[in-house]
Amino acid sequence: MENRSQWGTRLGFLLAAMGSAIGLGNIWRFPATAYENGGGAFFLPYLFALLTAGIPLLIMEYTIGHKYRGSAPRSYSKVSKGMEWIGWWQVAISFIISTYYPIIIAWAIMYSYFSFGTQWGDDATSFFVGDYLQLAETPGTFGDMVPKVLFPLLAVWAMVFFFLGRGVKRGIEVANKIFIPALVVIFIIIVIRAVTLPGALEGLNTFFEPDWSRIMDGSVWVAAYGQIFFSLSIAFAIMITYSSYLPKKSDITNNAFITGFANSSFELLAGIGVFAAIGFMASQTDQAVSEVVDDGVGLAFMVFPEIISQMPASGLFGFLFFASLVLAGLSSMISISETYIAGLQEKFNISRGKAVAIGGGLAAIVSLFFANQGGLYLLDTVDYFINNYGVALAGLFEVVAIAWFAKSLKDLQAHADSVSDIKLGLWWRVCLGFITPVVLGYMMLQNLKTEVS
Ligand code: PFF
Ligand code: NA
Repeated sequence: MENRSQWGTRLGFLLAAMGSAIGLGNIWRFPATAYENGGGAFFLPYLFALLTAGIPLLIMEYTIGHKYRGSAPRSYSKVSKGMEWIGWWQVAISFIISTYYPIIIAWAIMYSYFSFGTQWGDDATSFFVGDYLQLAETPGTFGDMVPKVLFPLLAVWAMVFFFLGRGVKRGIEVANKIFIPALVVIFIIIVIRAVTLPGALEGLNTFFEPDWSRIMDGSVWVAAYGQIFFSLSIAFAIMITYSSYLPKKSDITNNAFITGFANSSFELLAGIGVFAAIGFMASQTDQAVSEVVDDGVGLAFMVFPEIISQMPASGLFGFLFFASLVLAGLSSMISISETYIAGLQEKFNISRGKAVAIGGGLAAIVSLFFANQGGLYLLDTVDYFINNYGVALAGLFEVVAIAWFAKSLKDLQAHADSVSDIKLGLWWRVCLGFITPVVLGYMMLQNLKTEVS
């Protein structure tokens, strides 16, 4: 009866979960978020969010997947019939992300090639938007396809189709067993290089300098929880899907703690690397560190190329930096796409191959819209709404449905405890039934308030 796909090894599952968690959010979102929200003082709310929401929710998602052994929609429907839509909502968010995430990976592929000979020249910003993306002057325009985005994009999809088509153990697990160790090694090399550059210390001082006056600021706490949710791939249907492939005898709580701490360690490492590099850049160009700081696309494709240009052995380190974005991005991309592959497979009772062809095919076609001359505008807009509303709302639905309506926390706790070394207690139910819903509700209100004003 039980012929559901399974991970080959515990390490395989852990690497896949870490592969999903460790992504662009660690490299280009965390450093600037921490810096802007109190620097060293940000670590307090951040740690609090990790322990009261991140890890408890991860435990909950692992337990749901492990207990009900289904894709997110299937697993939620087994918790309670009326909850299937929450699974589909989360799958839909993942689907949307999977239409623009590969664009960024495609850029990173091209930039690892541009690194040799630092082809972006003296003005990395105009190279990026002008020479490379051929961005239209006005938002909302759809111009021609940009071949230098289109071709690496197709390469990304080929890899995604390849690994997902091969299945859980032979595809997803193998990919992460290659990508994640490679990513960690490359990243450590980059960070060592960065902290030994002149000016690095100045960057690190700026990063870690605590601004305790910010600690009572609600928006700082919202930023901390937001970072944790995004960074741990929580409420995206991913962790439920991945844990549904765990063998029956698997420690849940332990795995959640390991995933959570591994992701945060990587994030901290990235913060150190990024700010050391920014400190170096500031010292080379006689700017203040605060003038160089950026996040997201700007950090990776405008600031970093300039930093790389100033470095000795720029070709090599440029290549390594963009390769690390590719590896981190691909492993996350595989995890987002698997949510709808699994969902389709179960809902319509079709083979994995068919689900990959239909779901992946559709996402690939939609992704083409981002590969034209107006692509960056579209990407910014979609990403904004997904991050500000999609995720917080999905997380809120999830905890409220499970903890308040289905009242299933006690059942889930019993299930987790039956397989885990660390036993859960009242603290776990308080975090999920009270703290997390309150914070997410507050977060939604804050976002709406900034929208109105
Ligand atoms: N957790 C990933 C990161 O921190 O970069 C980002 C991510 C991956 C978010 C997959 C959402 C997702 F569906
Ligand atoms: Na992350």
